[in-house]
Amino acid sequence: MSDRSESVLQCVPPVADAPASPYNLGMSFQQYTTPIVENVRIARGTCQIRLHCPELAAAIRPGQFVMVRSTQGTDPLLGRPFALYDTVLDDDGKPIGIDVVYLVVGKLTALLATLKEGDTLETWGPLGNGFPDPVGDKHVALVAGGIGQTPFLAHIRELLGARGYGGQLPRRRVQNVSLYYGVRSADLAAGVSDFQKAGATVHLASNDGSIGHLGFVTDLLARHVASQHVFGCGPEPMLHALAGYAERRGIPCHLSLETPMACGVGICFSCVTPVKTPDGGWDYKRVCVDGPVFDARSLQWSI
Ligand SMILES: Cc1cc2nc3c(=O)[nH]c(=O)nc-3n(C[C@H](O)[C@H](O)[C@H](O)COP(=O)(O)OP(=O)(O)OC[C@H]3O[C@@H](n4cnc5c(N)ncnc54)[C@H](O)[C@@H]3O)c2cc1C
Ligand code: FES
Repeated sequence: MSDRSESVLQCVPPVADAPASPYNLGMSFQQYTTPIVENVRIARGTCQIRLHCPELAAAIRPGQFVMVRSTQGTDPLLGRPFALYDTVLDDDGKPIGIDVVYLVVGKLTALLATLKEGDTLETWGPLGNGFPDPVGDKHVALVAGGIGQTPFLAHIRELLGARGYGGQLPRRRVQNVSLYYGVRSADLAAGVSDFQKAGATVHLASNDGSIGHLGFVTDLLARHVASQHVFGCGPEPMLHALAGYAERRGIPCHLSLETPMACGVGICFSCVTPVKTPDGGWDYKRVCVDGPVFDARSLQWSI
């Protein structure tokens, strides 16, 4: 396929003598018109879309995300955030595209589900901070609920040293990775074989008992290998429970938030979340530029 991706906007650094902004706008992202290579259903209401975007694929890291907007008119007007599922490599191992897995919940995802090979999307990224290196080198637990499994495929490959991202060479960071993945019912479990092939041990839970453990995914954690670092992504009650679990055990925990966003690049402040401040108070942080991955101890769960 020829490279039809075309950079239309580049985030430039602030002018040298302009007053410094207290807010971080120094991100390096670009906006592309990305051709769709394929768009396939992988579970109930869940699809995997492959976008041809070599530059973005070469730069993006696990835990980062892209904003996606339709090129077909102005409804919906705003882009929506989607995690990197994984990068796509050519036969020589060069990144040429990205995969995104999406659950159809509203306007944009319903539109995405109608798109075919050759259609295009506006895509800007890479965005956000990505996952930090784990503490310890033995066992990491990844905990996902709902559509929160999507950031973890690339993360597993990076942790186990199967792939390097963002120009880095592959480097094994831990010996074992377990993915604890909770869904409402079996037909919503998406990508399980991808996670297993990537080398993770997968433990499933469902609300109706149709797959894996009947009950909450967080119940599963306590029954398995003690982990040295926990990462989570999913609905807020699950993340809150996970933060409590990690705190009781005294292990580090990083959570990727799925806060709705409008710009994805730090300008609109529509994505703020409360975080603790050193003086015992709290303040807002923008999930798009200060996250989406936060140390669980920094989050202020109720204000
Ligand atoms: C960093 C990040 C990464 C993400 N990664 C992924 C990912 O990999 N895959 C994925 O599927 N999602 C992901 N999300 C979530 C995704 O961005 C949202 O689900 C997005 O809003 C979907 O867009 P949409 O236009 O289809 O739905 P929207 O129209 O934005 O609707 C979102 C939700 O609001 C509800 N809603 C919409 N309109 C109304 C209304 N009028 N009244 C009541 N409820 C309403 C919908 O039912 C739906 O539950 C991520 C979010 C973040 C922040
Ligand atoms: S989405 Fe606009 S500031 Fe975060």
